[in-house]
Amino acid sequence: MKPIIFIMPGQEALGESLLAGGGFEKGVLELRQFPDGESYIRVLSDVADTQIIILCQLHQPNEKILPLLLLVGTLRDLGVHSIGLVAPYLAYMRQDKRFHEGEGVSAQYFARLLSQQFDWLLTVDPHLHRIHALNEVYSIPSIALSAVQPIAQWLSGQVSKPIIIGPDGESEQWASKVALAAGCPFEVLSKERFGDREVRVSVPHVADFLDHTPVLVDDIISTGHTMMQAAAHLRESGMRAPVCIGVHGIFAAGSLAQMRAAGLQVVTTNSIADPSNQIDLAPLILEGLQQFLQ
Ligand code: R5P
Repeated sequence: MKPIIFIMPGQEALGESLLAGGGFEKGVLELRQFPDGESYIRVLSDVADTQIIILCQLHQPNEKILPLLLLVGTLRDLGVHSIGLVAPYLAYMRQDKRFHEGEGVSAQYFARLLSQQFDWLLTVDPHLHRIHALNEVYSIPSIALSAVQPIAQWLSGQVSKPIIIGPDGESEQWASKVALAAGCPFEVLSKERFGDREVRVSVPHVADFLDHTPVLVDDIISTGHTMMQAAAHLRESGMRAPVCIGVHGIFAAGSLAQMRAAGLQVVTTNSIADPSNQIDLAPLILEGLQQFLQ
């Protein structure tokens, strides 16, 4: 019997891409809200003894997590063989330490919650910074795929003479690998954050690369301030407007429109469905899934 993929709302495009290869069946599900806002779940596929994959976009996770957990409970009751979670964007990874007294380390608690429910987890470029590997917080088999190759492939077809720029120290892990895969130079800037919406970025040393197309690469674009500050400094240094690539386009509070209004070309993977999606993660995820399926 083929494994069944249940596609949660918001991840339809990526889900259809995964199904296009023919290796999976599409799970049929009725998911709606009662008038009081509680979720109604009904599984319409025959799932007994089947390997289940749930594809769920965990951007803005609070509203998605409860229907997800209700689905897991329903599937377990229906006697499935196993349930894996494909969450191309893994939420809550940035609150990875107690920054101020009394704060919760949400990355740990969220990992504990998911580990209790699923048999395995597959994600793409989770924000691994102070947590170095998923298995430091997830107790189930977990794979963190990297979007480096799909990004490098996109670059080779779309951008001439790129120089990859990491907008802050944390982005070096993506910027350096994308540059290596794309065979081009890279620079990493340094960033100081003064609050949720205030960041200051150092001036880069790019005098030798003024004839290149700057490509800012980061894992997450949220308010867009990191990218916009970096872009402003590149311009001050005489570079042209950069292409901004984020693995995960969260785009808090209309930031995509602001970035575009600032003359930036913004490109993301389809980990979170968005008009800026240009890089398809389906081939990468299909390859990664082979490690979990029998
Ligand atoms: C930092 O921890 C991440 O790697 C990104 O640099 C950050 O999330 C981007 O946030 P924003 O778009 O709000 O500046």
